[in-house]
Amino acid sequence: MRRTPLIAGIAAASLLLAACGSNTNATNTSAGGAPATSSAGATTDTAMTSSDAMSTGSAGGSSAESSGSTGSAGGSETGSSSSADSSGSAAGSSDSSVSADSSSADSSSADSGAGSAGGGVEASKVGDGGAGGNVGIFTWWAAGSEKLGLDALTKVYGTMYPKDKFVNLAVAGGAGSNAKAKLASDLQNGNAPDSFQGHAGAELTDYINAGQIEPVDDIITALGGQKVFPKDLLSRLTVNGKIYSVPSNIHRANVVWANSAVLKKASIDPTKAPADINAWIADMDKLKAAGISTPLSLGGTWTQVELFETVLISDLGADGYNGLFDGKTKWDDAKVKQAIADYAKLLTYANTPADGDDWPPATDMVIEGKAAYNVMGDWAVAEFTSKGKKDGVDYNYWAVPGQDGVYDFLADSFTLPKGAKNAAGTKDWLMTVGSAAGQKAFNMAKGSIPARTDVTDAGFPPYQKWAMGEFKKDTIVSSIAHGAAVSLSWNTAMQAAMSKFMSTKDQAGLQSDLVAAASDNLGG
Ligand code: GAL
Repeated sequence: MRRTPLIAGIAAASLLLAACGSNTNATNTSAGGAPATSSAGATTDTAMTSSDAMSTGSAGGSSAESSGSTGSAGGSETGSSSSADSSGSAAGSSDSSVSADSSSADSSSADSGAGSAGGGVEASKVGDGGAGGNVGIFTWWAAGSEKLGLDALTKVYGTMYPKDKFVNLAVAGGAGSNAKAKLASDLQNGNAPDSFQGHAGAELTDYINAGQIEPVDDIITALGGQKVFPKDLLSRLTVNGKIYSVPSNIHRANVVWANSAVLKKASIDPTKAPADINAWIADMDKLKAAGISTPLSLGGTWTQVELFETVLISDLGADGYNGLFDGKTKWDDAKVKQAIADYAKLLTYANTPADGDDWPPATDMVIEGKAAYNVMGDWAVAEFTSKGKKDGVDYNYWAVPGQDGVYDFLADSFTLPKGAKNAAGTKDWLMTVGSAAGQKAFNMAKGSIPARTDVTDAGFPPYQKWAMGEFKKDTIVSSIAHGAAVSLSWNTAMQAAMSKFMSTKDQAGLQSDLVAAASDNLGG
């Protein structure tokens, strides 16, 4: 695995800048002159590798696996909705206790941060059972393997705060393809949920700039702050020195999922990634020659953005890719043109999806042997598991060819919206989301890795163990399709461009649409 700390450090710094590229409230300036969000003292020293800044498994002292339990552990779960108890996943029986960090909820530190956050409402003491009342949680983890992750987290919530009633407000559609529009109108109409799922980075900045969410520094402090969350991740949740959400996980977007048996039919070793996009295309030709008519499966528009972003990473390299979001790399660059040509070529090996097609059917094509490859975020591993498939036997995975050692990052995080009806219940939820027990249960089922650095890989499935190791040493870049690199409006413009391209296949037209989208959103 490639490891170049200096370059990785520069890339990590660029990531921060990229993630903040749309922040019109930016107050700091990086060495390179690009805008950066003011953060909790972390802005100037973010040039570090993932192992320095966002590593998992070591920093933070106390282990999530430590023994002991809260007063409420093992108590009634009747306060939570039935979905809280429906997880059939291994995570439902997480061996981690609620104690490693929840004890901090039991102290006054829970309200020692931003005094005004959430109207001064405190998180409940674990052991008191929670604030009580309905707590409406808005996500897009509505069904299938995605819901298993939410169920696992909700189960921990019911254990930590049994008086709170989890109300599932999930709206189906991967990547928030339907949820985000509903959320936007609910927020505008004064009908905010008690908490909603947002992405660390540019997307979260949109909600902050719109004044729709409250700081949650008090919760982050109570959870252990920089001792348990990577500084570099917290900086992506921070604007003007305040932290605006609690991260639940870290996902990776640039993963190829491969059906082992299908690849073997074409005499391709499923355990080895092709060296680059061209070698991958050569393998797709072999698959076609072996009678596999759809080597690559593809879903609707946002999955096309995700595939395209990974081709950009391969063709531009991590630094060149990061530069797309702060103006250092121009979207009319010859390498972007090359990436568009490579993407167009890849489409010739794929099914022709409709805009609204969700990701599970595309991943299922690989699971069922109808396609050889699918590029999908690592929530896909939960789909393989839920269909009874065995890691390394039925399927293999690797980084998209040409980017071994690059981790295309995104993180889900939960907010405290302005006008939340049960802010105290929200804080209980956020304490759960950020707890070691919550992160272990959730991430084991979700396919992601914990955002907390003190949750070890013990007990995790092989994929997450692998991902935790990669994350420590890889160069980190931000996902376009999942809100880390670009604002909601930029993402929307890119989706429109990709959707148009799916029917026109006009490469020059796509590039000029991408140039226009960047210029509208970077102000250049
Ligand atoms: C992402 C989200 C992931 C996963 C995925 C597919 O935007 O961050 O947690 O849900 O969409 O729906």
